Amino acid sequence: MSVGRKRLKLLGILMMVNFFIYVIVEVSKSSSQEKRSSRHVILPGGKFWKKYTPHKAYWNKQQHKLEHLYNPVLALLSNMTVEERLSSNGSFWSSCDPDPYVASELAGFENLPDRFKDFFSYLRCRNYSLLVDQPHKCKHKPFLLLAIKSLTPHFDRRQAIRESWGKEIKSGDITVVRVFLLGQTPPEDNYPDLSAMLKFESESHQDILLWNYRDTFFNLTLKEVLFLKWVSNTCPDAQFIFKGDDDVFVNTHQILDYLKSLTKEKAKDLFIGDVIKDAGPHREKNVKYYIPESIYEGSYPPYAGGGGFLYSGDLALRLTNISDQVLLYPIDDVYIGMCLQKLGLAPEKHKGFKTFDIDEKQRSNICSYTNLMLVHSRKPQEMIKIWTDLQDPHLNC
Ligand SMILES: *[C@@H]1O[C@H](CO)[C@@H](O)[C@H](O)[C@H]1NC(C)=O
Ligand SMILES: *[C@@H]1O[C@H](CO)[C@@H](O)[C@H](O)[C@H]1NC(C)=O
Ligand SMILES: *[C@@H]1O[C@H](CO)[C@@H](O)[C@H](O)[C@H]1NC(C)=O
Ligand SMILES: *[C@@H]1O[C@H](CO)[C@@H](O)[C@H](O)[C@H]1NC(C)=O
Ligand SMILES: *[C@@H]1O[C@H](CO)[C@@H](O)[C@H](O)[C@H]1NC(C)=O
Repeated sequence: MSVGRKRLKLLGILMMVNFFIYVIVEVSKSSSQEKRSSRHVILPGGKFWKKYTPHKAYWNKQQHKLEHLYNPVLALLSNMTVEERLSSNGSFWSSCDPDPYVASELAGFENLPDRFKDFFSYLRCRNYSLLVDQPHKCKHKPFLLLAIKSLTPHFDRRQAIRESWGKEIKSGDITVVRVFLLGQTPPEDNYPDLSAMLKFESESHQDILLWNYRDTFFNLTLKEVLFLKWVSNTCPDAQFIFKGDDDVFVNTHQILDYLKSLTKEKAKDLFIGDVIKDAGPHREKNVKYYIPESIYEGSYPPYAGGGGFLYSGDLALRLTNISDQVLLYPIDDVYIGMCLQKLGLAPEKHKGFKTFDIDEKQRSNICSYTNLMLVHSRKPQEMIKIWTDLQDPHLNC
């Protein structure tokens, strides 16, 4: 008897609970219906996707073809993997032979300055080999990897960096390591033969990475891509990476303090620097950054100025992978902006990056340097002076 009553009671409670759930659901349903009916239903007036208009500019056209090959839906339809699609045109997409079609497909090719002809003739070649490597550089997981773009003749800049802001550190759980990124400076480009001096330097300091491509302004993108590949292969555990020029002063202490203060979440996608937004190609012929209309159309994505930026090792690995899907572009910092955009990310502006220098009046005041991360440009002697002054224990700012 008592068991039966208990069951009845339980049934009653369950029914009441069900009733309340019913009431709650109905009430919220009617209120949301009210909201909906009081609003306009927005129907798209036309196509709500962007209409595809074929590009006229050469780089955009070639990039579009590459995106086609990586498109997963089209791959599915053709019953081929992306790799099979890439190799379906022979080694076209990784060829190191001069492109036989570029002269006919790039309007006005014959009249372009030589650097453009060189760049676009070898646009798809990126498998240059390492002539000098530092395979053990990262055997102790670095907290910070300093990667400095340099040019073989800049011996004094590299030495000043070694003696100042680029010192390697191993203290407690903080390891800082340094590499200089170099390409070749061949006699065809009228460089003197510095190979013996470079060999001596590399053996003395073990911080030189040298690849076998011509080190020119347009090939800085190649330097970027080859460095990212090196990170993935040889330094995949680096927690953070600073990449910059050999004519900047970097307040490494400030950078380390900043990095140590980051939350895990913020650290994962970190990419900071002096960010340039709403820019586009320069169309004046005499500027270093000149890009003709026949080569690129449209604006640039946000990008961090190549003088120096700071990002996470985790992001470096993702950038390495995505870079296969972005055709080389003659301006290296814009190129990284394009890769970030493809990852759905944007670089973040940090006011400590002074790539356009600080006020002239403030330059000789050491206290101007205590809170910044980077300033461009400084000569080797200036780097050493600022660094030495920053170490002064009596420094009072
Ligand atoms: C797709 O490829 C697989 C394996 O290569 C093959 O078995 C299959 O028949 C192909 N399907 C079509 C529709 O071609
Ligand atoms: C691959 O080659 C075919 C035939 O030569 C050509 O029609 C096609 O445009 C090429 N595809 C790419 C992505 O270059
Ligand atoms: C790169 O790879 C291509 C084939 O994909 C090959 O023909 C070429 O010789 C290689 N280039 C270099 C510089 O290793
Ligand atoms: C980049 O380097 C490659 C390999 O050395 C060379 O063939 C090409 O001409 C260079 N491009 C530019 C724009 O200097
Ligand atoms: C990059 O690509 C390789 C090979 O496809 C893959 O094993 C790896 O997980 C990828 N890494 C990232 C960070 O996406």
